[in-house]
Amino acid sequence: MQRTTLTLLAFLANLVLAVTSSCTTDPVLINGGVPEEPGANQGEPPVPGPPCTDNTISFKEQILPIMIASCGYSGCHSQESREDGVVLVDYASIRREVRPGDPNDSDLYESITETGDDIMPPRPAAALSTSQRNAIRDWIRQGANETDCAVPCTPENINFSADIQPLIQDYCAGCHGNNHQDGGVNLSSHAEILRYVADGSLVGSMEHAISFLPMPPAAVRMPACKVLQVKNWIAAGAPNN
Ligand code: HEC
Repeated sequence: MQRTTLTLLAFLANLVLAVTSSCTTDPVLINGGVPEEPGANQGEPPVPGPPCTDNTISFKEQILPIMIASCGYSGCHSQESREDGVVLVDYASIRREVRPGDPNDSDLYESITETGDDIMPPRPAAALSTSQRNAIRDWIRQGANETDCAVPCTPENINFSADIQPLIQDYCAGCHGNNHQDGGVNLSSHAEILRYVADGSLVGSMEHAISFLPMPPAAVRMPACKVLQVKNWIAAGAPNN
């Protein structure tokens, strides 16, 4: 940057300081410091939160999809349904249900680890997986910030049980599970999933392709690498491995 620009910036910063103190910190690294795609977040302020480290849970990629697919759907904790007054569809609404740093004193974590009938999601829906629960626990422990960190993802050597099933559970489960089937679509087993492989709608909806409904339908979009995992699994014959 040119020195004159810096001087000008310093002058402007002082000017702003006179009015408010909220713009005085250094820019926060988001996405682990990896540059955003051109045009991403255009016109929006950077997502707040501390810099990412290897162990940082990404709210955007790991927590929000689970919340939307397993809690924030119609009939449960969507904006309109607000069961028990609880909405779980975005950072602000999810943040209300947690005490940063203390999972065991957070309604959100307590509800997904209940041993009795109060467990969420309610039966007969499947409970969240251990890795989903641990991600939510660790995210709360780390301060429940609106983190947007790069999550490691390899698109090769895809396995149904190790890769595809967890991905469906993260992004689609509650809306297309055994007890709740939006649009009549059930994605709870290999056999069921094959039907949507066959008609192209599994990938079409994930890719937001024309003539398919974009899925998940909310403010969450599957990362390109995850969609590629699904495509590579299908290219390998969609095995039940
Ligand atoms: C928050 C709830 C929700 C989540 C999460 C969700 N869906 Fe859907 N899905 C719906 C609803 C609602 C419909 C029916 C919409 C309609 O018929 O207007 C639907 C319809 C569909 C359809 C049929 C529509 C078509 O274009 O043929 C497919 C296929 C589908 N979803 C796949 C998925 C996949 C794959 C995922 C995960 C990546 C997913 N959905 C995640 C709510 C959800």
